Amino acid sequence: MSDEYKIPQHVAVILDGNGRWAKQRHMPRNFGHKAGADNLEQVMEDAWDLGIKYFTVYAFSTENWKRSVEEVTGIMTILRDFLRRSIDKANKNNMRVRIIGERSRLDKDIIEAIERLEEATKDNTGLQFNVALNYGGRDEITRAVRGMVQDAIDGKISPEDVTEDYISGRLDTADIPDPDLLIRTSGEIRISNFLPWQIAYSEFYFCDTLWPDFNKQSLIEAIDYYNGRDRRFGGV
Ligand code: FPP
Repeated sequence: MSDEYKIPQHVAVILDGNGRWAKQRHMPRNFGHKAGADNLEQVMEDAWDLGIKYFTVYAFSTENWKRSVEEVTGIMTILRDFLRRSIDKANKNNMRVRIIGERSRLDKDIIEAIERLEEATKDNTGLQFNVALNYGGRDEITRAVRGMVQDAIDGKISPEDVTEDYISGRLDTADIPDPDLLIRTSGEIRISNFLPWQIAYSEFYFCDTLWPDFNKQSLIEAIDYYNGRDRRFGGV
């Protein structure tokens, strides 16, 4: 193994702990989500400073609709605000933004804002920031399989065309390399249906820090941990 300090090319993060962070302050949960969204903007810049090229976050899962109407509405308001500010900010930072997940369930104005943001930043060559919204890994795979079956029925593919690369290319993350490092904050040791196909060879890092408190130093600690590992993809 080389002694060189490696910066993971792609870091994926399960943002967790916004609610607990707010509770510690005797504030409503959405206060924590707002702090979490603000923190995300800072950590994205830190990620790019450290040399990370792809940064993917789990912002809203297919399960999160089960939260109270008040909380879901609050998160959507924060998201609208975030999307509105992001075009200028992304272009200033040369950042490309992509949304993964099943977007048709989102409100129309949010879908339009997503399309505008993706289009406006598509040629940027800096950090590629991927936001998972109404995302679930099994849902992503199900949608991909549906498309493949349709292509088979239409005679466009045959069984031998279905390779691992082909499947990867049908997922929402097509053209994005698999994460090297997956981080989950706030002490939960679970994957929660986030990128199940893509994290097959990723290193996992779990920390107790609540997401709004996760900062550049926390990210460096995660990368230090990543460097303590020898990744051999099952080989010797
Ligand atoms: C996890 O904390 C957080 C969420 C499920 C929502 C995250 C939403 C944002 C950061 C804002 C919207 C998104 C963007 C991209 C601006 P939790 O509520 O599960 O915390 P808890 O486990 O402490 O209750």
